[in-house]
Amino acid sequence: MNPGNAVAANQAPRGSQVCIGCHAPPEQQQLSGRLLGRWLAPNITSDQVSGIGAWSRSDLLRYLREGRARGRGQAGGPMGAVVESLQRLSDAELAAIVDWLARQPAWRDPQEQVPASERGRPLADDLAVARRAVVQSPTGRARGAALYDAACASCHGADGSGSRDGLFPSLYRNSAVGRRTPYNLLAVLLEGVARTAPEGPVMMPSFDGSKGVPGGLSDEDLASVANFVLTQFGDPAAARIAAGDIGRARAGWWGPGQASSARGQLVAVGGGPGGATAACFRCHGLQGEGDRASAAPRLAGLDAHYLARQMRDYAAGTRPSGVMATIARQLPASDYQSVGLYYAGQAVPAAGARKPASDPLLLQQGAVLYALGAPDRGIAACASCHGPDRKGFNPVYPGVVQPAAYVDLQLRLWRQRLRRNDPHDLMGEVARRMTDADIRAAAAFLEVPP
Ligand code: HEC
Ligand code: HEC
Ligand code: HEC
Ligand code: HEC
Repeated sequence: MNPGNAVAANQAPRGSQVCIGCHAPPEQQQLSGRLLGRWLAPNITSDQVSGIGAWSRSDLLRYLREGRARGRGQAGGPMGAVVESLQRLSDAELAAIVDWLARQPAWRDPQEQVPASERGRPLADDLAVARRAVVQSPTGRARGAALYDAACASCHGADGSGSRDGLFPSLYRNSAVGRRTPYNLLAVLLEGVARTAPEGPVMMPSFDGSKGVPGGLSDEDLASVANFVLTQFGDPAAARIAAGDIGRARAGWWGPGQASSARGQLVAVGGGPGGATAACFRCHGLQGEGDRASAAPRLAGLDAHYLARQMRDYAAGTRPSGVMATIARQLPASDYQSVGLYYAGQAVPAAGARKPASDPLLLQQGAVLYALGAPDRGIAACASCHGPDRKGFNPVYPGVVQPAAYVDLQLRLWRQRLRRNDPHDLMGEVARRMTDADIRAAAAFLEVPP
C-alpha cells in the first residue's frame, strides 16, 4: 500500500500524527500551541492572528522543507529535528500535511492582535552611538544595544534585517521574536541552533555563559539583550525579561521552587525525602543506564521535561507502577524537574553496550516494524514519531533504547489502557493494533542501541 494515496479528505496524512503531540495541548486535539519545557510549540491553527493563517501556502511548504520561511520564522529547538526527518517525505506528502493543517479548526488567543511574524521593523539607530553611550551609563537600553552590537549584529545585521541570502534571518518579522510570549527567543539564546538543511548545516552559537561557552553572557546580560531585541524587533510590551527568567528558561521549569541538575543528583544518589530506599541509582543503575533483569528503564539521555512528566503521572496514577508511584509522591514537583535535568545530562548507552538478543529473525521483524509500521493493519511507523535514529523528538516523543522486558510491559499496559498518560493516546492507538508477535519483535529490536 502506498500511504501517500491513503489520504481521504478527513484522514490524517502520513507524518502529521507527530505534529499533534507537540502542538496540541493535553486534553485537546486543536493545534493551539503548547509549552514544552523551555520551548513553545506555537499555535499552528489557521487563525489569521494567533495561528499561521497569515502565512502563504509556499511559506509553509518552505518552512517544512527547509526549516525557514523568510519574514515568518525558522525551525529551532525541537522543531529543527522534526524538519530534518520531514526531508524523507516527498513534495506531495508535505503538501498533504499543509492541506491537513488548513483543515484544522482555527483558534485565537483573545489577547493577540497582530501575527507574531508581522511585528517589528529595522533598527534606525546607529549602534556605534549606543556603544559609546554605554561607557557613560552601563545599564538599560544602551547596554542591550551594545550587547546586540557585539554578539548578534555580525550575523543578524546592524539593523536586524539579517543577511541578504536569508541564511541569517531577520529579527523583525520573525515569529520567535514577535510573539507576546517570547519563550523561543530565550530558548535560542541559551541553546543556539544546530540543524541540517538541504543545502548544509545551519548554526547559531549558544550564548549561555553558565555553560562556559566562548562568548557566553551572564543571565543579566542575556536579559538585557533579550529586552533590547523585543523592544526593537518584537512586542515592546513583552520586554520585561529579568535575569531570573533566564534561569527558569534554562531549567525549563516555570513553577514554584528551584530546579537544578545538582539538586537532581542529590536525589538520584541519596533518594531525597524518601531516604536511601528511594535512591534512583539502586534500580536505574549508577549512570541511569537501566537494568534488564528488573525491567527498570534507562533514564540517561532522556529529555528532562519528559522525565519530569512521567514522575508527575506516576504520582497522579495516570501511569501505573507500584514502585514509582510511592517514590514520586515523596518528591516535590520541582524535584521532578531536577532529577530530569540530572538524567538528561547523563550519556546515552553507546552502540555495542548491549548484546543483541540471539534471534536475528526477531530483530529483523522489529526493524521492519520500526521503520515502516504495518500499514495494512493501521500501525504507523514507529520512526515517524520516535525518529529514524530512535533519538525521539524531545520532549514529547522519547528516545527508544530500552530493556526488552520494559518495552514489552509498556506496550501491554497501553494495549490494556492502563498506561494512560500520553495526552492524545497516540501510543495507545499504536499498541492496541499490535499482536503479541509484534510486541516481542519491537521489544527485542529496541533493546539494542542503534
Ligand atoms: C517535538 C515537538 C514538535 C513536533 C513533533 C512538531 N513541532 Fe512544529 N514546532 C515546535 C516548536 C518548539 C516550534 C517553534 C520553533 C521555533 O520558533 O524555533 C515549532 C514551530 C512550528 C511552526 C512555525 C510556527 C511559527 O509561528 O513560527 C510550524 C508551521 C510548525 N511548527 C508545524 C509543524 C508541523 C506541520 C508538524 C508535524 C509535521 C510539527 N510542527 C511538529 C515543536 C514541534
Ligand atoms: C554566527 C551567527 C549568529 C550569531 C552571532 C547570532 N545568530 Fe541568531 N541565528 C543565526 C542562525 C543561523 C539562525 C537560524 C536560522 C535558521 O534556522 O534558518 C539564528 C536564529 C535566531 C533566532 C530565531 C530563533 C528561532 O528559533 O526561531 C533569533 C531570535 C536569534 N537568532 C537571535 C539572536 C540574537 C539575539 C543574537 C545575539 C545574542 C544572535 N541571534 C546571534 C545565526 C546567528
Ligand atoms: C525500587 C526500584 C526503583 C527505584 C528506587 C526507582 N525506580 Fe524509577 N522505575 C522503576 C521501574 C521498575 C520502572 C518502570 C515502571 C513502569 O512499568 O512504568 C521505573 C520507571 C521510571 C521512570 C519512567 C522512565 C520512562 O522511560 O518513561 C522514571 C522517569 C523513573 N523511574 C525515575 C525514577 C527516579 C527519579 C527515581 C529516584 C527518585 C527512581 N525512578 C527510583 C524502578 C525504580
Ligand atoms: C503517533 C506517534 C507515535 C507512534 C507512531 C509511535 N509512538 Fe511510541 N510513543 C509516542 C509517545 C507520545 C510516547 C510517550 C508517551 C508518554 O508521554 O507517556 C511514546 C512512548 C513509547 C515508548 C515508551 C518509552 C519510555 O521510555 O517509556 C515505547 C517503548 C514506544 N513508544 C514504542 C513504540 C513502538 C514500538 C512504535 C511502533 C510500533 C511506536 N512507539 C510508535 C508516540 C508514538
